[in-house]
Amino acid sequence: MNKTVFSSVLCHPLLFPLRLSSFPAGNAKMYKVTVVGSGNWGSVAAKLIASNTVKFGSFHDEVRMWVFEEKLPSGEKLTEVINKTNENVKYLPGVKLGKNVVADPDLENAVKDANMLVFVTPHQFMDGICKRLAGKIRADAEGISLIKGMEVKKEGPSMISNLITKQLGINCSVLMGANIANEIAMEKFSEATVGYNQNKSAADRWVQLFCTPYFNVTAIQDVEGVELCGTLKNVVAIAAGFVDGLEMGNNTKAAIMRIGLKEMMAFSKMWFPSVKDSTFFESCGVADLITTCMGGRNRKVADAYARNGGKKSFDELEAEMLHGQKLQGVLTAQEVHEVLRDRGWQHMFPLFSAVHAISTGRLPPSAIVKISEEKPR
Ligand SMILES: NC(=O)c1ccc[n+]([C@@H]2O[C@H](COP(=O)([O-])OP(=O)(O)OC[C@H]3O[C@@H](n4cnc5c(N)ncnc54)[C@H](O)[C@@H]3O)[C@@H](O)[C@H]2O)c1
Ligand SMILES: *[C@@H]1O[C@H](CO)[C@@H](O)[C@H](O)[C@H]1NC(C)=O
Ligand SMILES: *[C@@H]1O[C@H](CO)[C@@H](O)[C@H](O)[C@H]1NC(C)=O
Ligand SMILES: *[C@@H]1O[C@H](CO)[C@@H](O)[C@H](O)[C@H]1NC(C)=O
Ligand SMILES: *[C@@H]1O[C@H](CO)[C@@H](O)[C@H](O)[C@H]1NC(C)=O
Ligand SMILES: *[C@@H]1O[C@H](CO)[C@@H](O)[C@H](O)[C@H]1NC(C)=O
Repeated sequence: MNKTVFSSVLCHPLLFPLRLSSFPAGNAKMYKVTVVGSGNWGSVAAKLIASNTVKFGSFHDEVRMWVFEEKLPSGEKLTEVINKTNENVKYLPGVKLGKNVVADPDLENAVKDANMLVFVTPHQFMDGICKRLAGKIRADAEGISLIKGMEVKKEGPSMISNLITKQLGINCSVLMGANIANEIAMEKFSEATVGYNQNKSAADRWVQLFCTPYFNVTAIQDVEGVELCGTLKNVVAIAAGFVDGLEMGNNTKAAIMRIGLKEMMAFSKMWFPSVKDSTFFESCGVADLITTCMGGRNRKVADAYARNGGKKSFDELEAEMLHGQKLQGVLTAQEVHEVLRDRGWQHMFPLFSAVHAISTGRLPPSAIVKISEEKPR
């Protein structure tokens, strides 16, 4: 295959000189990528990546994708069907992933040769996955997390990139943005943000791996800010879903989005003072907030919850409506609640607190518009 170090003109013309100098011929095939996770977004990520590894000389063509094995109704195994049809028939039906995507049910085997690890599972599974991977990955591996969520620690929230860094001893960037997976699968244009800590050259490599003419990626130095945006907007999306379910209209939803954005910023800066205001105006911030409150599964399930008057729990609705896909917003609201409760700070976050109280059945959905900003309840 005729590979090039050039990117499409649409994707970062500014990076052209850097790409030419960073990837001399001697560096051919230095990087081998594994995607850990294969749900809806994980499968789309594998498709984006696979289109670039065959295009750029610095990557091995093959992209391994770790698949949490399951039996399909037909009796076949999901990995076998992905390998055979090149399609994730359960989580992304109808979309070809690229012939260079190889499904692997064995986690350790999937990561053992890779030095670029892409983490994209529902966040509740990451602790267990990291425990299984500790000591089993290459010493020169770098990570990137596409996962939205956090862990609750005594000291406060701890982000998934931090969990990966601590447990695996590798640097971990993040990629977040206004990225509803099914729309990107159809190659409709969107943007995304890579957040990195220190090493700009590693961040540029992640940008190159993900960027396509329909997926424009920008790197900024604020890993916590980018990750908190992606995580907290799911809580706001639950609130937006309640408003939709109660048919309260577009003004109300805009108000929820505005209040939610302020709480996202305040929460992030309270725990991580280095978070930058400008991050909230990147794709990972306000753009992701808007798309998640308009489309997205968190909005959809919260809409159904409100229409049902809270008679069906979120767990029941998740099972009924999402066919194995996972809801993140309710769990994140719980996590946010726990870290705020420890400090007695709930009153400073009335929207986040109301989402938690409603989703656990302690308040009715209509309470979402009875919050008063900045006053204790
Ligand atoms: N779907 C989107 O539009 C989208 C967009 C951006 C970010 N994200 C984020 O991406 C992450 C992954 O979401 P997704 O949409 O790829 O997944 P998903 O919700 O579509 O699928 C769930 C996945 O979890 C796997 N799974 C089930 N039980 C498991 C277990 N015990 N251990 C490990 N894996 C198990 C399933 O096999 C499946 O691959 C989430 O953090 C999500 O917030 C999703
Ligand atoms: C998937 O494909 C790869 C490469 O063709 C092969 O080595 C592997 O055994 C296949 N795995 C499954 C579960 O089908
Ligand atoms: C992480 O990045 C820093 C800064 O670029 C670098 O010094 C360090 O060696 C990296 N750590 C690992 C484990 O790769
Ligand atoms: C950044 O990481 C690359 C390897 O990915 C390494 O070669 C380089 O020295 C690092 N830069 C810094 C400043 O640590
Ligand atoms: C992609 O983003 C870069 C900035 O990061 C910008 O210069 C470029 O115009 C964008 N491309 C498109 C098609 O929006
Ligand atoms: C919000 O605006 C859209 C677009 O005009 C419209 O279709 C929708 O009905 C409005 N929602 C409500 C609840 O009025």
